[in-house]
Amino acid sequence: MIKDLQQKILDETKKRGVCVLAHSYMSEEICEIAEYVGDSYALASAAKKVKCPTVVVCGVRFMAETVKMLSPEKRVVLANPLAACPMAEQFSREDIVEVKKRYPDYAVVAYINTTAEVKTVADVCVTSSSAVKICRAMPEKNLLFIPDINLGTYVASQVPEKNFKFLSGGCPTHARFEKSHAEEAKRAHPNALLLVHPECRPEVCELADYIGSTSGIMDFATESDAKEFIIGTENSIVQHLQTKFADKKFYPLSRDFFCHNMRVTTLRDVYDAVTGEGGEEIVLDGKTIADGVKCIERMIKLGG
Ligand code: 13P
Ligand code: SF4
Repeated sequence: MIKDLQQKILDETKKRGVCVLAHSYMSEEICEIAEYVGDSYALASAAKKVKCPTVVVCGVRFMAETVKMLSPEKRVVLANPLAACPMAEQFSREDIVEVKKRYPDYAVVAYINTTAEVKTVADVCVTSSSAVKICRAMPEKNLLFIPDINLGTYVASQVPEKNFKFLSGGCPTHARFEKSHAEEAKRAHPNALLLVHPECRPEVCELADYIGSTSGIMDFATESDAKEFIIGTENSIVQHLQTKFADKKFYPLSRDFFCHNMRVTTLRDVYDAVTGEGGEEIVLDGKTIADGVKCIERMIKLGG
């Protein structure tokens, strides 16, 4: 059944000129049929490269908005309209305009997990894999990092030459796990390396052997000679890695490490979005695109 539906999706994408982009948190069956699979940075870069007139994004809303801003001439469809990132909704454009008044000499560094409207008032955008490099490369010395305080704290620790201010936003999925969860997982698997996403709390990151984006974690586990790993990010990454490497063992930091928004998209949603029977076309006005794309393009320029 799954194979049949996957084949139908592949046939329809070819017939209709549709390209499917999937974030690495998607299920195995979705990743298998996507043209590009990767972290937020990889999806943003892919948006510039894809040739098809329609792009179906399997991920959360801000990812589809980013694709639309980078390729406004394309029809961009979010495979499941319910897929939102709660962190991206934590601050509105107006909130950020107010905060900027308090810190007029600070450049606004916006995590890509923000709405298109928030991006219109940011100086640069970053993803978890590119934030350190970009903050280092920026000529500005004072950086207001929004909205994720955990990612911001991690970046500040790697870029001590800059002055950082933070807002108190964050990812409810990653921030839920405490030092005691990491300690418990390490006790249960004493030979395993702990790999965590920088959206985790600083006290969890302190215990980690590696800190990186979803793709960074997957690359580290692929290249490492170690045989056991505790994965401190969404549990889909545990499944992807275990499917890929039968000779290695992967354990979740917690069995509850789920982002419901990332899990809501099904293979059937992808089929419906590809055939025009489902999904939601992303519509942004010209001014939002023109103002918001600048910080994403600066990210791609500085991120390489
Ligand atoms: P990545 O930069 O790893 O894609 O992070 C996206 C995300 O939503 C992690 O929670
Ligand atoms: Fe947003 Fe966190 Fe889910 Fe990523 S894992 S989409 S940051 S809520």
